[in-house]
Amino acid sequence: MKTLNRRTGMPNCFLFALILGAFALAVVVDAQDPSGFISIDCGISEDSSYTDETTGIHYISDAAFIDTGVSRTISPEFNTGSLQQQFLNVRSFPEGPRNCYTLRPANGTGSKYLIRAWFMYGNYDNQNNPPTFDLHFGVDFWDTISLLDTASIGWTEIIHVLSSDYVYLCLLDKQLGTPFISAIELRPLNNSVYETTDGSLVMFDRLDYGSTPSELASTSNRFKDDPYDRIWNPTPNSLMSNPSKIRNLSTMNSVTSNTFKVPLAVMSTATTSQNGSESLNLKWGPPINSSDQYYVYLHFAEVEVLQPNQSREFDVFINGISLFNEPIVPDYNWTHTLATNSPVPFPEFGIAINKTKNSTLPPIINAMEIYIARPITQLQTDDIDVSAILGIKSTYGVKRNWQGDPCAPEAFLWVGLTCSNNDGFNPPRITSLNLSSNELIGEISPNISNLMVIQSLDLSNNKLTGQVPSFLSQLAYLTVLKLKGNNFTGSVPESLLEKSKNGLLLLSIDATLATENTNHQNKVVIPVVASVTALFGLFIAIGFVLWIIEKRKRVVRKQKEGSFDVRNREFTYSEVMSITNNFERIIGKGGFGTVYHGYVGDSQVAVKMLSSSSFQGYKEFQTEAKLLMSVHHKSLTSLVGYCNEGTHMGIIYEYMANGDLEKHLSDKNQNVLSWEERLQIATDAAQGLEYLHHGCKPPIIHRDVKSTNILLNEKFQAKLADFGLSRVFTTESGTHVSTIVAGTPGYLDPEYFSSNRLTEKSDVYSFGIVILELITGQPATSKSPGKTHIIQWVSSMLANGDVKSIVDPKLEEDYDVNSAWKVVELAMACASRASTRRPTMNNVVMELKECLATEVARHESDQSDDSIRMIPMNSESGVSPMAR
Ligand SMILES: *[C@@H]1O[C@H](CO)[C@@H](O)[C@H](O)[C@H]1NC(C)=O
Ligand SMILES: *[C@@H]1O[C@H](CO)[C@@H](O)[C@H](O)[C@H]1NC(C)=O
Ligand SMILES: *[C@@H]1O[C@H](CO)[C@@H](O)[C@H](O)[C@H]1NC(C)=O
Repeated sequence: MKTLNRRTGMPNCFLFALILGAFALAVVVDAQDPSGFISIDCGISEDSSYTDETTGIHYISDAAFIDTGVSRTISPEFNTGSLQQQFLNVRSFPEGPRNCYTLRPANGTGSKYLIRAWFMYGNYDNQNNPPTFDLHFGVDFWDTISLLDTASIGWTEIIHVLSSDYVYLCLLDKQLGTPFISAIELRPLNNSVYETTDGSLVMFDRLDYGSTPSELASTSNRFKDDPYDRIWNPTPNSLMSNPSKIRNLSTMNSVTSNTFKVPLAVMSTATTSQNGSESLNLKWGPPINSSDQYYVYLHFAEVEVLQPNQSREFDVFINGISLFNEPIVPDYNWTHTLATNSPVPFPEFGIAINKTKNSTLPPIINAMEIYIARPITQLQTDDIDVSAILGIKSTYGVKRNWQGDPCAPEAFLWVGLTCSNNDGFNPPRITSLNLSSNELIGEISPNISNLMVIQSLDLSNNKLTGQVPSFLSQLAYLTVLKLKGNNFTGSVPESLLEKSKNGLLLLSIDATLATENTNHQNKVVIPVVASVTALFGLFIAIGFVLWIIEKRKRVVRKQKEGSFDVRNREFTYSEVMSITNNFERIIGKGGFGTVYHGYVGDSQVAVKMLSSSSFQGYKEFQTEAKLLMSVHHKSLTSLVGYCNEGTHMGIIYEYMANGDLEKHLSDKNQNVLSWEERLQIATDAAQGLEYLHHGCKPPIIHRDVKSTNILLNEKFQAKLADFGLSRVFTTESGTHVSTIVAGTPGYLDPEYFSSNRLTEKSDVYSFGIVILELITGQPATSKSPGKTHIIQWVSSMLANGDVKSIVDPKLEEDYDVNSAWKVVELAMACASRASTRRPTMNNVVMELKECLATEVARHESDQSDDSIRMIPMNSESGVSPMAR
């Protein structure tokens, strides 16, 4: 929750007064809301709405989104002229441990929203006692709301990608006063901003450097200057160790913003270090919760027109770790955003912005945002089931505790429902519904037909009328149906009776209804209650079916996994100890931990034990391990299993006898890889990457393609390793900052700096570097003092038009020059600066296959009987991409 007190000790109302003043000054009135804004004033009368005079944003009543709580009005003494209308009324929740709003934003699943909740107590209940309570978003904790005094206004924000069409915002009573809420705002965001590896972002702070509170107030600090309606706060001087200001509003009157769209008013001011000193140090108070992790976004733009002899460049450090490999040179009129793309620990030691040696001007900062990473621990219920159960709820006017998500969290499972497990992969589904003795009236709701995996339905002892609908027999999993004690008319559908007769359904209906059936249709079978034998038969039948399915699965698995007769699974720590023979043999280090050799049965395995410092959370690990185990391709190292016992976390991979590619390209290596072998390795690895990008849904970005992550098995088949892991784990060196995790220097997409995001095309770039290494036999970045990058080196050679000087001299010209040209061109296209000019992995695979075929043909025509270590190319042997 946003309160100034946390940082400064200023009275809570201080900032708010300023903000409200700002609104009063702005003269924007626009009845039409920008598309997609949802703005809800809680507690105003049903169906009422208005356009806020100061922001021009249209607010509607909350009544349609909640069916509990009471409307209240704040005490008149707080209704000063400048107070915004949203704060005049609140909805208060004196009853129930949890009360929830259910919203259905137009953009639906997959869209990103900034969601803000506002709170002003205003002594609405005359208790003079501002409450403390929790706010949940979806099925997870969002924030604790604690208002310090009656007059203060608080707000909290979360940035979230909808995993369901339904958004729940719940207030949880902590027995510390009655929960209430003033307003709710949803703002759609471009999906490419504020990317996280997993989960949501809760705002910690959002600061505009360089403007005083009154200056900020004289413009606007939110919509419309900010198209995303973010609220920008002025920076108290106490947040900087050595601040001074430079401002240059007059020269900077436009700014080309990136996707973050930070407003001009915010970007046109900056703070610099005092007296031009070397370092600008930004600091914060203690973290709210020391185990939280954070995302930091820094926005830079040059605000002065530099003279030819002037320069400004600086390095940015979070907790003493450099955020980016290269110095930052802010552009005039152009916003650069620097961000962590994986969460970092609280910047307790602050953020240091240090000028480089070359820079003549001191460092600056224009704006910054810090968010708390909030992992998603559970999934919401399947949308189709939610829609069905909401329909049933409204048809029969069911109250009970039916609020928020039906199945999750388990503590608030809707009374009368049971759901399938929330395993973190598949959304929970409703498996049974018991509405017996609920005074239901009317017919059986057609919504029930959409509860597609329901196994048990109990509608007994109500006042239901009409026919028993035949759709009930379409519910494939329904094994228990209780309809006794209602006023149904007509006959029971034949299909239901049939199922019951066959022992597939335990059916309970009124004898009268059943009799009617007999009379009308001359049916003999009246299964009032299916017999015990029928039920027994049913169990046997189900058991048999399951057994068959399981058996088939095993067969399929065996075929797919070849040498591994072991099913992916979770191993205990003691099992891991025996697999590795007490961690006897270390075969590698890095990539989040140490790798040991071991055996599972007769198969050799590599066991990577993760250092606990590189680990972000049990749930993420579990999720990721299972995800990785579900990805199978011949060019990806397969996971045999994982270990997850207390602090012991490990991943068990297939063993790759010939180690990594870098080793084989290095000068120290005796056995020189032939041109054909190199092409085969490139093709194999490319196919693995192609599968991650195009065969997996959603696509997986490897994020760390490099020659040490390409492993070779005993047949020199190449497989990609460590894919996807960077989503969960921080770096090998124990640092937690994005660029290091995201990529290895030398392989990192240069566009990453301006876009702050890694895409499939970033993998293509890195793969281009790997191809160049294969061609040249040179490492990506030379370790010699001259320090040229492989791309620069190859480019300079290409300028001379001589491919032979590029290709590894160890090959002694045993390759086809045309194919060499082609591969060099392909590699350079992959490593284009602009991602749009890089090919997709589909193209890369195609090109490489052609080159390889040419090379194989050349060898065959040569009749060269060299001992070929490589398996001849067999493009069809791959496991066809399997949808996840
Ligand atoms: C940044 O500069 C300050 C002042 O010169 C220095 O104390 C600090 O160590 C520097 N930070 C880093 C990470 O180099
Ligand atoms: C710093 O200046 C030196 C000398 O002018 C130059 O060679 C070097 O490339 C500059 N470094 C950067 C990072 O611009
Ligand atoms: C439904 O709930 C009632 C009352 O709690 C209970 O008696 C009945 O056994 C339940 N039905 C099923 C199918 O479990």
